[in-house]
Amino acid sequence: MADEKTTQSSNAPANTPNTIEALYLEDRRFAPPTEFRKNAVLSDEDIYARAARDPEAFWAEQAEKVHWFKKWDKVREWNAPWVKWFLGGKTNVAYNCLDRHLSTDRRNKAALIWEGEPGDERVLTYNDLHREVSKFSNVLKGLGVRKGDRVAIYMPMIPELAIAMLACTRIGAPHTIVFGGFSPESLRDRINDAQANVVITSDGGWRRGAILPLKKNVDEAIAECPSIKACVVVERIGAAANITMHEGRDHWWHELMKGISQVCPAEEMDSEDPLYILYTSGTTAKPKGILHTTGGYLVGVTSTFQWVFDYRDNDVYFCTADIGWVTGHSYIVYGPLSNGATSLMYEGSPDWPDKDRFWAIVEKYRVNILYTAPTAIRSFMGWGLEYPRKHDLTSLRLIGSVGEPINPEAWMWYHEHIGGGRCPVVDTWWQTETGSILISPLPGITTTKPGSATRPLPGIEADIFDENGNSVPLGGGGYLVLKAPWPSIARTIYGDADRYAKTYFSRYSPDVYFTGDGAKRDKDGYYWLMGRVDDVMNVSGHRISTTEVESALVNHPSVAEAAVVGKAHSIKGQAVVAFVTLKSDGANMAPAEKIAELKKHVANKIGALARPEEIYLTAELPKTRSGKIMRRLLRDIAEGRAMGDTTTLADPGVVARLRDKYEAAEQ
Ligand code: PRX
Repeated sequence: MADEKTTQSSNAPANTPNTIEALYLEDRRFAPPTEFRKNAVLSDEDIYARAARDPEAFWAEQAEKVHWFKKWDKVREWNAPWVKWFLGGKTNVAYNCLDRHLSTDRRNKAALIWEGEPGDERVLTYNDLHREVSKFSNVLKGLGVRKGDRVAIYMPMIPELAIAMLACTRIGAPHTIVFGGFSPESLRDRINDAQANVVITSDGGWRRGAILPLKKNVDEAIAECPSIKACVVVERIGAAANITMHEGRDHWWHELMKGISQVCPAEEMDSEDPLYILYTSGTTAKPKGILHTTGGYLVGVTSTFQWVFDYRDNDVYFCTADIGWVTGHSYIVYGPLSNGATSLMYEGSPDWPDKDRFWAIVEKYRVNILYTAPTAIRSFMGWGLEYPRKHDLTSLRLIGSVGEPINPEAWMWYHEHIGGGRCPVVDTWWQTETGSILISPLPGITTTKPGSATRPLPGIEADIFDENGNSVPLGGGGYLVLKAPWPSIARTIYGDADRYAKTYFSRYSPDVYFTGDGAKRDKDGYYWLMGRVDDVMNVSGHRISTTEVESALVNHPSVAEAAVVGKAHSIKGQAVVAFVTLKSDGANMAPAEKIAELKKHVANKIGALARPEEIYLTAELPKTRSGKIMRRLLRDIAEGRAMGDTTTLADPGVVARLRDKYEAAEQ
C-alpha cells in the first residue's frame, strides 16, 4: 500500500518569519477598475453570501448553464470522503464543448487558434473542430476503443492533441495525457497503471528548434506495455524524425482520417462516469492517477472559467500552460471550449526564437486574456523590459497566474509591465485534484493585494487549520483545508481508493480535504499560499516528489543512499537538490563527472523536469535514531539557514560536517 506522508517535518512551508512579516507589511491594494467592474460578468458581491447560504442550490444553478441529455435527480450525495454530483444526470463534455455551439452564432467562430513552431499556424472554428473530433472519434472506434477504455496521449502542443482528447471524451473513453517531457519509463508506468489500450503520439515535437523524439520514446515505453494494442502517430516533423512504424500496431493519423465518416453522435455519459485520469506526483515514488468524472468537472471548469477570466464572447484567451498538465486540461480545452471561447494554444517556448515570443503572440492575435505562471513572470523580469516594450500589449484586459505562490514583486511587475496598470491580476490557487480554480479574485468584485490569491470562490468552503484541526483565527497560519466537496473534486486515485482516502481525508477527518499546502490568512480574511507542507516540490510550477527523485537516484548502480530536497530558487520557485552517498565502489570517476552522470540518470528515469540542479556527494546523511533521513535539516543546509532542532539526530556531528562541505562547494 502506498504510504502518503502528510506531515510537516521534512518539508516545512517556505514561510520563514521574514516572508510572513513582509506579507503583513503589504499594504498595496488594487480595486477593480470602474470600467471593468461595470461590464464584468460578475460584479455583485452578494454571490458569495448566496453560495454560502445554500451551496447545493448554488451549484445546481451553475449546472443549469451546461447541456444535459437528461437532468440530474439529485444534486449531491456525500458519504465522506466519497461524493457524487448531479446524480442520474446524463451529459457529454465534448458535446458541451462543440455541438452545443453549432446552433449558435459561434458556429464559425475560432475555437482554437494554434501558433506552432517554427512559425506554423492554424485556426479551427467550432464547426471545424467538431468535424475533426467526430472523425477521430470514429477512428478510435475503428481501433476497437469502447466506452470506458483508457487511451494514453503523449503529444506536443498541436491541434491534434485537443482533437484527440475531445474525441476520447466524445466516445466516453477516459484519456490519460502524459506530458511530452516525461521519460519513456514514466510514460510506461502511467500506461501500465491506467491499462490503456491505445496510445496517440506524433513522430516528434519541436522544442527551441530541436526535435523531441516522442515516437521513439513511445516505442521504448510500450515495449513493456502489454495492454497497448495500437499506436496512432501524427506526422508533425516528417522525414527528419526518422521513426519506425511497426506493422500492425502503428498507424498514421492522416491515413486513418482519410475518408472516415464525420458523423459520430456524442455518447450519453452518466454524470459520474470517468472523464480522464491525470497522473501527478505524491509523496511516494509512485505517481497518483487522479480521476475526474463527467458532470461535476464540467460544471466546475465551465463556471470558474467564466467567473475568473470574465470571459466575453469576442475575447481571445491565451493560457501558456501545456495540455499535459491540469491547467491545460481545464483552462485551454474544457473550460474555454464549453464557454464557446477562442482559446489560443502555443507549441513552443517563451524564449524561442527570441525572448519576446509571448508578447509577439499577444500582439499578433490581439490577446485579451493571458494566463501564465510565476516562474515565467520571474524569467521575463530577468530578461528585461525591452522585450514586452517591443510589442503592443494594449489588447490585454485581464491577466492571470497559476502554479505556485507569486511573490509580490513579480505580481507588481506583471501588473505594471504586462497589464499596463489597467488589467486586474487573478492569482488562482488550485490543484490537479481540485479540477478547477478554488481560490482566486473575482476580477469585477475583488480588491487584490500583490501576492495573495485573495478569497475562496463562491461555493467553496476553505479554512486554515492548525495541527489539531482547529480553525486558525485571522492573522494566523497553518494548513489549507476544504471543508465541503465541490463539483470538480477528483473522485479517486485510479485503482487505489485507499490511497485517495488516506492522502486527502485522513489528516483531520473524512469530511475535510487536506490540500498539502501551507497558508496564512490576514486580518481581512485574504489567503496567502505558502507552498507545500509535504514531500512534494514545486519546480517551475511542476509537482515533483522528493521520493520519486530519490528512487531514481538509488536506482543508479553507484548510489547507496540519496536524500532530495527542494531549495528556494529565484526563477523556478524551487530547485531540486540531492545529497548522495556512493557505494564503496561507486567513486570510480572524478566527482564532477559522477555528478553529471547522476543528473543525466534522473532526467532519463523521470524526465528533464526532475533533473537535480545540484548534487552533493557526501559520506553520510543526517538520520534520526530510528534511521529516518532528516530532509528538513538538509533543506536548512541547502538554503543556508540556521539549523533547527537536531536533538533527534543519531549523530549530530553529521550535520556540521555536511554543512562545511556544502558551504565549501558553494564558494
Ligand atoms: O502548492 C500548490 C501550487 O501547486 C500545487 C498544485 O499543483 P498541480 O496539481 O500540479 O496543479 C498546478 C496548477 C493548478 C498546489 O498544491 N499552486 C498552484 N497554484 C497556486 C499554487 N500555490 C500558490 N498559489 C497559487 N496560485
